Amino acid sequence: MTRHRLLFVCLGNICRSPMAEGVFRRLVAERGLSDRFEIDSAGIGDWHVGQAPDNRAQAAAMRRGIDISMQTARQLRAVDFSHFDLILAMDGSNHGDLQQLSPKQLHGKLRHFLDFATQTGTRDVPDPFFGGDEGFDHALDLIEAAAEGLLETLVVEDGVAAKPGAQRSSL
Ligand code: 4NP
Repeated sequence: MTRHRLLFVCLGNICRSPMAEGVFRRLVAERGLSDRFEIDSAGIGDWHVGQAPDNRAQAAAMRRGIDISMQTARQLRAVDFSHFDLILAMDGSNHGDLQQLSPKQLHGKLRHFLDFATQTGTRDVPDPFFGGDEGFDHALDLIEAAAEGLLETLVVEDGVAAKPGAQRSSL
């Protein structure tokens, strides 16, 4: 069975991508699929390396029953581009940075996370860092929608791949 290696990326790795990591971890745990995933998150920048997620991100996640307090911020590393199968950018700026930083032949691994939730009508999880609590709740709404869409896509892909003679597609 395919083991998916997923990396969620934002700017600082203290707000959006830790929430995405926590939401996706809980989703796969609820479905009994945890052993089929390696899930991590990282930041484009190094300002917050070693820190726990922002208190407001921890509180917003906890309001939905998700504990992200044990996460530690880290910066994106060159090896991440080869190690992970899918690298999920929280916004267009992060996606642009990932394209700049990664080898061209690995650009197929880079995705806008919200492309898995087209019903949201946006590609960007707005950066909540300089705003209030409502920005974190809104970010979580978008993240939850995209997490559901991403898992659904991967489960369908796995089902197709498991059928004899079936072709794997691009994921
Ligand atoms: P994140 O939010 O990218 O969602 O973790 C930010 C955290 C810190 C900064 C910017 C965005 N900062 O400029 O320090």
